[in-house]
Amino acid sequence: MTSKNKEKTEKIVLTGDRPTGRLHLGHYVGSISNRLMLQEKYSSCYYMVADAQALTDNAENPDKIRSNVLEVTLDNLACGVDPSKTVFFIQSEVSEIAELTVFFLNLVTLARLKRNPTVKDEMKQKGFGEDVPVGFLCYPVSQAADILFAKANLIPVGADQLPVLEQANEIAHKFNSLYGAVFPKIEALIGEIARLPGIDGKAKMSKSLGNAIFLSDSREEIEKKVMQMYTDPSHIHASDPGKVEGNVVFIYLDAFDYDKKEVADLKEKYQKGGLGDVVIKKRLIDVLDNLISPIREKREYLAKDPKKIMEILEEGTKQACKIAKETLKEVRQAMKIDYF
Ligand code: TRP
Repeated sequence: MTSKNKEKTEKIVLTGDRPTGRLHLGHYVGSISNRLMLQEKYSSCYYMVADAQALTDNAENPDKIRSNVLEVTLDNLACGVDPSKTVFFIQSEVSEIAELTVFFLNLVTLARLKRNPTVKDEMKQKGFGEDVPVGFLCYPVSQAADILFAKANLIPVGADQLPVLEQANEIAHKFNSLYGAVFPKIEALIGEIARLPGIDGKAKMSKSLGNAIFLSDSREEIEKKVMQMYTDPSHIHASDPGKVEGNVVFIYLDAFDYDKKEVADLKEKYQKGGLGDVVIKKRLIDVLDNLISPIREKREYLAKDPKKIMEILEEGTKQACKIAKETLKEVRQAMKIDYF
């Protein structure tokens, strides 16, 4: 998989999604756009469908996870993540990841896991309290194994994942200092827009908060969602001066509209008064549909042949398993558990 115009470096790129639902614009700006850029730059790129991680809070919903394996893979393929440049694989099919997780669990304390801000936030959002499934509480440990089985060191993720990667680095460091230098240091790569708010203006776009625009949404769905978007509640008449800060329509125009000058002009007009919400919303509908319509069309085309999608995953999983076996051999030697 090497090509002349790819940088000759040691970087190994790995990322993944939980197959709990279709992916949305937050995933696009947070991580997918970087996946597209990195696969052109580096010859070792991995994309994981993190089904085992998705099951940590969906144990009672195996059908949901199973069907979304296909959905998140389709989303990535439709955006242009390319299986000839990126190895697509399924987490649970690489059993060495589970094995490595067991070894890593010895290197982490319960107190440290409970302090992880990402886990804390997610536990709160899901209302878990003390009744959290242990697998869920420990997902940063298995995520360290997701990354380190491939010795990956460049991880494109959304900003909410930073504490998880920090903990993965602690685990790698602890392993290396106890047993010898096996694992690299991990570096996160955050998208240009680290956190995209939802259409309701809440801090984060999220399927479970019901405030997401999906990469597979139709033009009608986009229209409906943009028309509901949170703007400036005190901007009642078009002639009133309006606020641009915290106004979701302008945050999205900043993120997705290529015509920066036009956006600057619109902001000025809006602040002065004389520009109605419908005008800026109509513009945003076009901007978003221009981004999403080619993704949606490619997705519809690819979805006609699910067998082909499963073949892509199967092929990539074989490659991931090969690497995993090599790493686990080294791990066992380092840990002195290479008996026979
Ligand atoms: N936790 C990530 C998310 O919710 C998904 C994920 C699983 C992941 N394993 C990974 C991301 C390894 C990067 C690297 O988005």
